[in-house]
Amino acid sequence: MYMSTDEVRNAFLKFFESKEHQIVDSSSLVPHNDPTLLFTNAGMNQFKDCFLGAEKRAYTRATTAQRCVRAGGKHNDLENVGFTARHHTFFEMLGNFSFGDYFKEEAIAFAWEFLTETLQLPQERLLVTVYETDDEAFDIWNKKVGVPVDRIVRIGDKEGGKQFESDNFWTMGDTGPCGPCTEIFYDHGEHIWGGRPGTPEEDGDRFIEIWNNVFMQFNRHADGTMEPLPKPAVDTGMGIERISAIMQGVHSNYEIDVFQKLIKATAEVVGHDDLSNQSLRVIADHIRSCSFLIADGVMPSNEGRGYVLRRIIRRAVRHGNKLGAQGVFFHKLVGVLAEVMGSAADELKKQQELVEKVLRIEEENFGRTLERGMVILNDALDALEGKELDGETVFKLYDTYGFPADLTNDVARERDFTIDEEGFEKAMEAQRQRAREAGQFGTDYNATIKVDTNTEFCGYTGTEGSGEISALFVDGEEVSSLSAGDKAIIILEETPFYAESGGQCGDAGTLKTASGLFKVQDTQKLGNAFAHHGELVEGVLAKGDKVEATVDAERRAAIALNHSATHLLHSALREILGEHVAQKGSLVKPDNLRFDFSNLEAVTPAQIKEVERLVNAQVRKNHVIETNIMDIESAKEKGAMALFGEKYDDEVRVLSMGDFSTELCGGIHASNTGDIGLFKITSEGGIAAGIRRIEAVTGEVALDAVEAQNNAYEEKLVEAAKKAKSLEKEIQLLKEKMAAAEGANIMGKVEEISGTKVLVAAIEGADNKNLRTMVDNAKNQVGSGIILIANVAEGKVGLIAGVTKDLIGKVKAGDLVKMVAEQVGGKGGGRPDMAQAGGTDVEALPEALKSVRTWLEERL
Ligand code: ALA
Repeated sequence: MYMSTDEVRNAFLKFFESKEHQIVDSSSLVPHNDPTLLFTNAGMNQFKDCFLGAEKRAYTRATTAQRCVRAGGKHNDLENVGFTARHHTFFEMLGNFSFGDYFKEEAIAFAWEFLTETLQLPQERLLVTVYETDDEAFDIWNKKVGVPVDRIVRIGDKEGGKQFESDNFWTMGDTGPCGPCTEIFYDHGEHIWGGRPGTPEEDGDRFIEIWNNVFMQFNRHADGTMEPLPKPAVDTGMGIERISAIMQGVHSNYEIDVFQKLIKATAEVVGHDDLSNQSLRVIADHIRSCSFLIADGVMPSNEGRGYVLRRIIRRAVRHGNKLGAQGVFFHKLVGVLAEVMGSAADELKKQQELVEKVLRIEEENFGRTLERGMVILNDALDALEGKELDGETVFKLYDTYGFPADLTNDVARERDFTIDEEGFEKAMEAQRQRAREAGQFGTDYNATIKVDTNTEFCGYTGTEGSGEISALFVDGEEVSSLSAGDKAIIILEETPFYAESGGQCGDAGTLKTASGLFKVQDTQKLGNAFAHHGELVEGVLAKGDKVEATVDAERRAAIALNHSATHLLHSALREILGEHVAQKGSLVKPDNLRFDFSNLEAVTPAQIKEVERLVNAQVRKNHVIETNIMDIESAKEKGAMALFGEKYDDEVRVLSMGDFSTELCGGIHASNTGDIGLFKITSEGGIAAGIRRIEAVTGEVALDAVEAQNNAYEEKLVEAAKKAKSLEKEIQLLKEKMAAAEGANIMGKVEEISGTKVLVAAIEGADNKNLRTMVDNAKNQVGSGIILIANVAEGKVGLIAGVTKDLIGKVKAGDLVKMVAEQVGGKGGGRPDMAQAGGTDVEALPEALKSVRTWLEERL
């Protein structure tokens, strides 16, 4: 019976649904609040607390198709991808779970029914293993299910290993829920090399493990002790790729429908046609982990999860390069991936554009150094005397060319070399040391102070309260009392002070006792306790004292405005920029707010304006800001925005502002959006690849900001006006200088009419104001004479005449200028020694000037 991968997934979930299991969505690849885990690597991760009894859910049976990544951390398959038929960085794990409900008997019966009845696998192809001492499981297989004893294998602890170090004892990590397991194997047939589990040939590909059923019984602690779980439980996992291979009659996972389509698409985008090429498999595998990681909120970076992602992307790009890919190619596979993953691609489809952009940019950036790095690496390998590449070179490739060590290792391995990992680690450590020495580190008291108090927070409704001092610390050391001047941390049983969390900064204020006054500068969480950081300004204090706690209410109100505005901003960004916008960080303080979010490009000034307008419109709508406590499912139904990868309790606090914003939030808010008054963005910029930061202000601070901006503009305006004035002066001076030069030039045109010196000249572009100076100069130079200057500027004619005193009995400047002006469409007149006029008919000017001679001859 053939089944597509999508059909296998649905058949599995439906089967367990028919056995009263709740179908639960795959959780994010970024584990919830679990620092022991890099990526989700098994279906049981999201239920860890249910197994430990620390969390109760509405169901005790669940089933999932969980996306998993095993690259980095305890279960790491990265380096084997491409070299074997069934290792992947990303895969889907089908699982069924019982939290203290059914145990071994039902689990085994379910598994057998699904395999042999639903999927109709021939019983004789199946083989099972049990933990060496698990007689119970052995008997269930043999007596209840009817598997013959020669096909049940007992597997013990590894030789030379510790107790429970066995293929049939499953542990999630070094700590956490664990227990013995029974595994089901499929025999691919004699034609494939390999032996039964427990034999020396077990690593061959003939007998493939398809399903692991774990009987969770213990919680393993860091010191190795095994604490029994409150109730035994069941955790199973079946790799969908392996079971699909069987259902599709193929042997290698890379031959199933999903991979065949991906491999074909890869061959097309890199321009390579040998579909059996190993590099195509590597790329087809890597596009899955990279795309799903990005869709789940991981961004390439130089540390932690982001660095593992970067390593996988670079490995894929290098393999594409090897196949001769021209230009960027990797991101072009995301669309195909979204198609072939069927119902597992819902989240990916929503984020497709973002995923493509991140991959493209990352590939472009790496592409720039890849070629040069490869030359250096190949040269180094060519020149190598032994078989091991030194750590310094591996480090240099990492540091300068962005080659992660496993990429270098990959290339070396293809050419039969190894790398000196220890030497590389040493070089890395030396660099970290240098970075440490250069950097500044704040004190994280969480590492040094351990407090048992569960502080009760009573500050949602007010800013005052009273409580008892349960502990005091100075410089990280517990003390029993304080005296004036001591800088300390005070832990209270109950407090109205909000401790920094969810991006909202801690409260400040005062703690007063009968004997002392403590100024609180900041409040932080220490485990479940609230730590008031500050200084005792007066008197003394002791453990056990009763305090009157008063939060700085004005400061708190300003914080609340900024927090509410942050929610509006978040929704506005999603509306204006798109649904891909996800919160990446937030800091809400009294004087401003900071919001980091995923977006590849800078937000344009026009978009900033739109966002501001939208937020302010919501402010004016004056929505009531409502808080409701409800269960997580109802919150999701309401469409509440939750932080990806954040773990929430079953009961959550939902904050809504009309129909515009609904978010899960534990912070403190204004009562109406109108309280925000005014919202103003003060800056926008990038802080990491694909992450932008917006800073903004609200209320009075926003008003101050607008005022400050206006003041700044005004100052600039005054400055500009001053500058313009001084420039004008300069221009005037230059014009005068030019006029003087022009004046000197025109002196060559002086002629004599009836024994009198006459100067008639036409100039262009002079300032009419300067004509007077020109005439005065000319008069001085001729001593006795008649001057007429015509200036053509801006399409008009300016006329000026000057007559020296001795001649005004014969010729008057006013008459002369009037005579000419009338010919150029103007009129004029003036004093006998100096007169000015203007006209508009520039074309008539030459004739008019010619007439001057006759006119003068008649009078002189
Ligand atoms: N958690 C078990 C595994 O990953 C089922 O194999």
